[in-house]
Amino acid sequence: MTTRASIRFLRRGRIVELSHVPPMRSVLDWLRLDERARGTKEGCNEGDCGACTVALGTLKNGKLVYEPVNACILLVGQLDGKELITVDDLADGETLHPVQQALVDTHGSQCGFCTPGFVMSLFTLYQQGGAPTRDEIATHIAGNLCRCTGYRPIIEAAQLSCSGKAADRWAKGAKEATRQLAALDDGADVFVGTPESFIARPAQAATLARLAAENPDATIVSGATDVGLWITKQMRQLPKIILTGGVKELHAVESGKDRVTLGAAATYAEATPALASIDADVAEVMRRLGSTQVRASGTVGGNIANGSPIGDMPPMLIALGATLTLRHGAVERSLPLENFSIAYGRQDRKPGELVWRIDVPKLRRNEAFRAYKISKRFDQDISAVMAGFKFTLDGRTISSARIAFGGMAATPKRGAATEAALQGVSLDQPASWATAIDSLAKDFQPISDMRASAAYRIDVAQGLLKKALMEVAGAANTRVLAHRKAVA
Ligand SMILES: Cc1cc2nc3c(=O)[nH]c(=O)nc-3n(C[C@H](O)[C@H](O)[C@H](O)COP(=O)(O)OP(=O)(O)OC[C@H]3O[C@@H](n4cnc5c(N)ncnc54)[C@H](O)[C@@H]3O)c2cc1C
Ligand code: FES
Ligand code: FES
Repeated sequence: MTTRASIRFLRRGRIVELSHVPPMRSVLDWLRLDERARGTKEGCNEGDCGACTVALGTLKNGKLVYEPVNACILLVGQLDGKELITVDDLADGETLHPVQQALVDTHGSQCGFCTPGFVMSLFTLYQQGGAPTRDEIATHIAGNLCRCTGYRPIIEAAQLSCSGKAADRWAKGAKEATRQLAALDDGADVFVGTPESFIARPAQAATLARLAAENPDATIVSGATDVGLWITKQMRQLPKIILTGGVKELHAVESGKDRVTLGAAATYAEATPALASIDADVAEVMRRLGSTQVRASGTVGGNIANGSPIGDMPPMLIALGATLTLRHGAVERSLPLENFSIAYGRQDRKPGELVWRIDVPKLRRNEAFRAYKISKRFDQDISAVMAGFKFTLDGRTISSARIAFGGMAATPKRGAATEAALQGVSLDQPASWATAIDSLAKDFQPISDMRASAAYRIDVAQGLLKKALMEVAGAANTRVLAHRKAVA
């Protein structure tokens, strides 16, 4: 297979080819400092505010899809094979794009600092066609913060402009852009730099695994929604970067009869339909995970590999009984996901070993699942406590349970004493739940930090287990969330 010593992407109808790009160069810096396209703004520089939002066009199963991403935490290497569109490209001479015109018409901009980001998020919504509901619009722009205008006029602008089939230059040029992107997909392993300092984006699975094994000191990057902040906030030097995203098989998402299988580079946007089909609570947690921009870049694999005790996915996946497959060179090994995190900041993964695949069992008929995310802000916030519960039922009796929490220990963790205490509990006798609920204090000794106090965490965990039991028992006084009603 061939190796290419340049990064290539589509911009303004032409192919940009870069052969001297520093590994840590962000797309935002490339735009503002190298290309000098300065409409895209830097706000927080950590993926939170959305001021730097740009649109990326990607061929997914042959179809051109436009997604919003945060340019401040996206590496130039991640552009390979994609189309990059920024706010500077939208107007046609003096004629504004429909989403820009709608923002003018609804007075959707005051100081204007957030506006380029909103324009680009709305641009990607516009490309989807259709007429999104107010809730869908709010979810789509949850990653764009505005401090002065207020969101009502911005949502009105979305309602006004995103109300039917896309008919702009990009819609009309989709065929040609698709052809150009298909031509860029040469299957080559990209390697830009020297053995001491490089950014690599292998297209072949074997090359990725070999390169990672040969360079155990390299930084593996999937979506860069964590690693991007190491660069912009921690000022870390990462001379060797290996991107996983170029390997197609690592984006594969298969939904079989009994399980969902994800490649480690599948983004949240790619993985959500299959994982959401397991249970409505998985769908709801994933809807609130990060923002549309974070979900377009970030991966489930990265959420596991980072070993964070407060990642949203591991508690749900551990409760569901997920298996993780790792690969080092040509050698694969699998382990239960709950065994991956050993201690704070330590995982069962040797240098150069890659998170490769995740297998998630689907629920059987006699299994019930619940998951809850507790965070200070409803949208786009890291969890204070994250809970996943799976109950196996024998009629109205719990025959076994898997419960897992994030934010309650140094790693995502199962509660062994609580699980044992749940065995044999009747859903019809709430008094019999008390021992299990009390056991949570034996299983978990959380810490106090800026997100929550230890006492609050224990309190909330106990409340969540009670809520899950009440919901599964079908207690009449349980408020059933709309997202569950929708699938009931
Ligand atoms: C604004 C914002 C909001 C966020 N909100 C949430 C949230 O609500 N919930 C949440 O859980 N997280 C959240 N995050 C954190 C982050 O988005 C997730 O942890 C995400 O899943 C990381 O995936 P990634 O692909 O971007 O990882 P990367 O940044 O690419 O990598 C993360 C870590 O995993 C390693 N790694 C990545 N892929 C592999 C692999 N295949 N093999 C081995 N190692 C690998 C990297 O070396 C690094 O150590 C948020 C981040 C931002 C910026
Ligand atoms: S500058 Fe705030 S998200 Fe990029
Ligand atoms: S218009 Fe000022 S931040 Fe949005």
